[in-house]
Amino acid sequence: MNLEGKAGIVTGAGRGIGRAIALLMAKEGASVIVNDPGAGRNGEVTTERPADEVVAEIAKTGAKAVANYESVAHYVSAGRMVAQCAETFGKIDFVVNAAGVLRERMIWNMTEDDFDTVIAVHLKGTWNMAHHAIKLMRRERLGRIVTFSSDAFKGSVGQCNYAAAKAGIIGLTRTIARECGPYGITANAMCPFAATRMTVNDAVIANWKRRVEAGLLTQAEFDSRMAMPGPEFVAPMVAYLCTDAAKDVNGQIFHAEKSHYHTYAYGEVARSIYKYENNGEFTVDELIKLIPSSLMAGIANVAPAKEA
Ligand SMILES: NC(=O)c1ccc[n+]([C@@H]2O[C@H](COP(=O)([O-])OP(=O)(O)OC[C@H]3O[C@@H](n4cnc5c(N)ncnc54)[C@H](O)[C@@H]3O)[C@@H](O)[C@H]2O)c1
Repeated sequence: MNLEGKAGIVTGAGRGIGRAIALLMAKEGASVIVNDPGAGRNGEVTTERPADEVVAEIAKTGAKAVANYESVAHYVSAGRMVAQCAETFGKIDFVVNAAGVLRERMIWNMTEDDFDTVIAVHLKGTWNMAHHAIKLMRRERLGRIVTFSSDAFKGSVGQCNYAAAKAGIIGLTRTIARECGPYGITANAMCPFAATRMTVNDAVIANWKRRVEAGLLTQAEFDSRMAMPGPEFVAPMVAYLCTDAAKDVNGQIFHAEKSHYHTYAYGEVARSIYKYENNGEFTVDELIKLIPSSLMAGIANVAPAKEA
């Protein structure tokens, strides 16, 4: 019971990783607001209420959980969610941002709505939740923000909206960590790898097959995606980050999957060149000569041009 007496919110907790986290947090003694509007994979409105099922599952164990059906993408709704937690449980110790949608298209086919929707749920939604929760956490000088980034932050074909949101979440998380650490609040980002409806479904598998045929995905990558482990392996790391024991784990990026967690050193300087003459000003001619043998030595184009 490592979270005994704690209370907080897990967003997108009706399914997938959020659900696994809500169940584990409750098992560890926390009271949980189980948020999920029951959105479709692409963010479409449905009549599904998966939050109710998770609340019922938690209730069977004797732990406390209450459903919330609002969208993290709306500033006012996120504020209501935080208020609901404070009113229901008398406090808010953690916010875990596991809500998510996908709209996958190459940049030239992506609509403005595809871009805006994904940014709204992931990046703006994470900011909305943190913004409202931290106002209360700061008064208590205690809090945990766990955000969900993705390995897609490195760049991911067909996901420019999602990759941009996930990279943005890293900058947001690391800034929250620096701003709020002095108030006893930590913020860390997770990059999970788990089989959920987001990652493994018929349409996705068909798309992976097409990518293998087009040489955009190796067969080994395809096989590893097909053998993706469940979301329950991600949840322990998130629960750990919300414990008192993790009070000095702050501003980090974690990758989590079955039997393997690692950190990312994002933003570390890799290579440098210096200019001492000419007031430190490089010329373009110098760069044309210098860069291939220094900053870019041995580094290949991530996607070289092909014949049309
Ligand atoms: N599964 C993976 O391997 C993987 C990899 C990288 C990142 N992630 C991230 O992990 C998080 C969880 O993803 P998942 O795989 O469990 O997906 P999932 O589709 O199984 O669950 C996401 C849940 O978020 C809910 N949701 C959608 N829009 C919402 C909104 N506006 N407000 C609140 N909830 C909303 C959905 O209803 C759904 O139940 C997401 O942020 C996702 O981007 C997942």
